[in-house]
Amino acid sequence: MCGIVGYTGSRQAYPVILKGLKRLEYRGYDSSGVALLKDGKLNVYKKKGKVADLEEAMIGKDIDASIGIGHTRWATHGEPSDRNAHPHSSSNGKLAMIHNGIIENYAQIKQDLVKKGYQFTSDTDTEVLLNFIEDIQKNNDHCSLEEALRIALKRVSGAYCILLIEQDNPDTIIAARKGSPLVIGIGKGEHFLASDASPIIEYTKEVVYVNDYELAIVKPDELILKNLGNEKVTPYITKLDMELAAIEKGGYDHFMLKEIFEQPSTIYDCLRGRLDAKELSIKMSGIDQHVNELMNANRIMILACGTSWHAGLVAEYIIEELCRIPVEVEYASEFRYRNPIVNKGDVIIAISQSGETADTLVALEKAKENGAFIFGVVNAVGSSIARISNAGAYTHAGPEIGVASTKAFTGQLAVLMMLALAIAKHKGTITADRYNNLLLELEGIPEKVEVILKNAGELKKMADKYKNASDFLFLGRGYNFPVALEGALKLKEISYIHAEGYPAAEMKHGPIALVDDQLPVVFIATQDTYHEKIVSNMQEIKARKGRIISIITEGDTVCPTLSDDYFSIPAVDELIAPILTVIPLQLLAYYVGTAKGIDVDKPRNLAKSVTVE
Ligand code: AGP
Ligand code: GLU
Repeated sequence: MCGIVGYTGSRQAYPVILKGLKRLEYRGYDSSGVALLKDGKLNVYKKKGKVADLEEAMIGKDIDASIGIGHTRWATHGEPSDRNAHPHSSSNGKLAMIHNGIIENYAQIKQDLVKKGYQFTSDTDTEVLLNFIEDIQKNNDHCSLEEALRIALKRVSGAYCILLIEQDNPDTIIAARKGSPLVIGIGKGEHFLASDASPIIEYTKEVVYVNDYELAIVKPDELILKNLGNEKVTPYITKLDMELAAIEKGGYDHFMLKEIFEQPSTIYDCLRGRLDAKELSIKMSGIDQHVNELMNANRIMILACGTSWHAGLVAEYIIEELCRIPVEVEYASEFRYRNPIVNKGDVIIAISQSGETADTLVALEKAKENGAFIFGVVNAVGSSIARISNAGAYTHAGPEIGVASTKAFTGQLAVLMMLALAIAKHKGTITADRYNNLLLELEGIPEKVEVILKNAGELKKMADKYKNASDFLFLGRGYNFPVALEGALKLKEISYIHAEGYPAAEMKHGPIALVDDQLPVVFIATQDTYHEKIVSNMQEIKARKGRIISIITEGDTVCPTLSDDYFSIPAVDELIAPILTVIPLQLLAYYVGTAKGIDVDKPRNLAKSVTVE
């Protein structure tokens, strides 16, 4: 939920850390800080607000150092403030630490430390862990920091990625992770540490993804990985295939707009090498090597949160239609606290852009304990959810920086559609014609997305017309019902306008009472088996003077007569339609949010990766 950067080597550490924090700010941004170590002196600077506020506060400060750690915070314990910002210093002033995650048993530990006379300068759980480490060092004949950290981590519960530096160890960063991500970049005579690869990629493409329960002792020219049992672990070095440009805004006003317009290429990248329109085949190693588990599943449970949960809902309709396997879609945040029934033979599909969502991760750990087979649909390569899965398929949407998920969602849909087609083919529950037609429809999606994006200006006009509404309704049926939920989430999370998604047929069971001549109602009314029914639903709204915006199939002559505004998309099979119908809703939300002057890449109260509860 926050951003972590560390550097040790021959460069000046501060510029590397500052630039890295800016790249990670989307992960959480209520405060930030750096700790720099030079000639045995620890300088700690931290500030509430954005990284730019820290940068300003640093002017004139002593920043000369070749080792340091930096942090952008998304608070879990202790309000956003200068004192609660990271890095934290230990009581004896010899240690500085940054932390991403939650120490769940910090209160008991703090109580014990206070009894021993420790004083705290913050309200955070992080400072408690740091003083716990100091206390262990003190009571164990001043054992090494590494040893004290190992002892401490065996006694804390929760999630952490921590970086520690100490006065007496002038070139070493000690790191550890459990549940929060950590990547280490391998340079020549230097090492870079960060929550993801974006602060690292301009310096090196060789990285190590640290696993849970591992410690890293990092010097300029040495990286040692160990487990909590103090056994060495061989670092597995992988090569990044992400380009720096992929991270910059690329000329767009916001990352969100860039990512919406990247969708023709990101969907193409997701299909490439997997869907072959000539051979009319789908080849995905994660499926092919586990086709028996997948096609013989007694039941498929989909675990996800937010937008990823909406992708799961689309997948439920598609998989049941094509594969005839029962599917249940569960909010991971609910599943993890229930006493769910999960049996061997159940297949879990985990959907996550970041691959670090705590609710989804813990739900999966619970499902795995019950013997379920886990198929991960993840965007962030090497992330925790990807690594806990038995098999999976990356969405290959590239880094998604905007807090509102867009290209990752359409990437998830593309993977899930290929998964359903592949399983149905193996099971023989789909005719060759239907399989071939859907495969070719899917292959043609990138071009159809291009067509939609060319008409983005129409949605900008619509946004200006409706931006002052206080409420919105989004209605859809069948495969487009989950898209109505997604359109509502997009609008509310970046424009702060209250919006609800609903099955269109449900309106008569209560929500229609909301309709008046101020209420915009967005209908996803593309040409499909429900079209006649949804036209009736539109008439119900029109009769009550609702303001109708409809997303329709080009050439539809009925819906325009019932709509105040409408947006046409290219014709597509209804089963594939959600990948297209969501695009105008993403754009509508973006243009409403920007028309209201909101920083849509960093909406209030939100963070890109929810790695705490
Ligand atoms: C989507 O726009 C939101 N940012 C949020 O709902 C997000 O989808 C959710 O937190 C799940 O994240 P994940 O896909 O990284 O697991
Ligand atoms: N739990 C720590 C705090 O509230 C870290 C939060 C984070 O991951 O940014 O300071």
